[in-house]
Amino acid sequence: MALAKSRCLFSLSRLLIQGGRALEGVVSTGGSKNSALPIITAAALAGSGESIIENVPNYTDVLDLCEILRQLGTKVELLGEGRLRVDGRGLDNHVAPYHLARRLRASSYLVGLLLARLGRAEVAVPGGCNIGLRPVDYHIKGFAALGAEVAVERGSIVGSAGRLRGSRIYIARASFGTTVNMLIAASLAEGTTVLENPAQEPEVVDLANFLNRMGARVRGAGTNQIRVDGVSALTGTHHEVIPDRLEAGTYLIAGAITGGTVRVENVIPEHLRTVLAKLREAGAEVFNRADAVEVRAPARLRAVDIETHPHPGFPTDLQPPFLSLECLAEGVAVIRETIFENRFAFTDELVRMGAGIKVERETAIVRGVARLTGAPTEAADIRGGAALVLAGLAAEGETEVGGLEHIDRGYDRLEERLAELGARLRRLP
Ligand code: UD1
Repeated sequence: MALAKSRCLFSLSRLLIQGGRALEGVVSTGGSKNSALPIITAAALAGSGESIIENVPNYTDVLDLCEILRQLGTKVELLGEGRLRVDGRGLDNHVAPYHLARRLRASSYLVGLLLARLGRAEVAVPGGCNIGLRPVDYHIKGFAALGAEVAVERGSIVGSAGRLRGSRIYIARASFGTTVNMLIAASLAEGTTVLENPAQEPEVVDLANFLNRMGARVRGAGTNQIRVDGVSALTGTHHEVIPDRLEAGTYLIAGAITGGTVRVENVIPEHLRTVLAKLREAGAEVFNRADAVEVRAPARLRAVDIETHPHPGFPTDLQPPFLSLECLAEGVAVIRETIFENRFAFTDELVRMGAGIKVERETAIVRGVARLTGAPTEAADIRGGAALVLAGLAAEGETEVGGLEHIDRGYDRLEERLAELGARLRRLP
């Protein structure tokens, strides 16, 4: 996997940014990571035929998942720019490679896959970003409701089951990962599963569409109740992953924080409704096109309050980039993070740049300042890292962002795309 190796060489690289220039121009987003990961896993549910998945983003998380699936016996082949072939017929190993699985949050979806296909699963308790605890208790409860015996042993989620049985499952906090896992597992279960309070993210709808093309019977994805009528077998299919709304949102906020004009193409504007409303409230002009969004920002925006919620609320993943924008806005913003408790960790680095931020538990109070100044900073997670890059673009002088390996897990060629918009930045190996 030459692609994966070239990424690893960069893993300790840093980004050097010369800030203070308004971004102008057009940029296009790729496929959604949070959609591609469940869909690639679900493709291995097929006992016959192969799936061709298009618009797969080139993120390290995706490459890691492909490697794990290969080690479980699935054939996964990169056909060319964003096209992946997955053939699950050979899936025969229920033990995921521990050290690879533990660093990937999405490896929990393998439990649903393996229980449904092989009746056994052993997958390291997943890690992921340093944004807070990432427990798996809702997943385990869900599998128990489907008739599996699942427990955490030796650092792994270990499970066994006969054929899974449909059930009624209430999903606490509309957990995205639990919803994905239940959809994957219930598709091949005997009888009907009803998910109450599932996640309503566009990526859940994308997964449901993919499963239905494979022959599953999933109804109601995108609402607060999903019904899955289990089928006995699924077959490979063809699918195009939806655009990455989180990447798109990041570029729009980058345009806004620098007082620029940025058009992001390959976007479904409806997926970003709450974020666009907040950009407008802050004083930016936002224009929705059929599959693009354009933002035009004045030199200084107004502070606006934000509270993160599961979709269609304000996405927790765009809270950090938006918080950077608030640092330079006029007034005081109250930002509440209700989903991940450590999602303000990156604000320490913004304070080094002159930001006025106080954090108390799940609330950050941001007092806007007239200028930020460049500083050496360190990214510790995907979105917090993106937030530092955005602050660097708007700051006076030079900002260095280390820990790029975190940012590479969720952004494909971030620096190239920002450079297309006129940003002055380069990656230092
Ligand atoms: C996914 C996304 C992440 C996004 C998040 C919320 C991926 C790879 N990650 O993460 O980008 O920020 O959805 O939209 O797609 N919880 C439990 N027990 C569980 C599961 C979750 O307590 O078993 C808690 C979590 O700690 C968190 C909340 O529920 O506080 C929501 O988590 P969840 O929606 O499951 O997030 P992820 O699927 O991990």
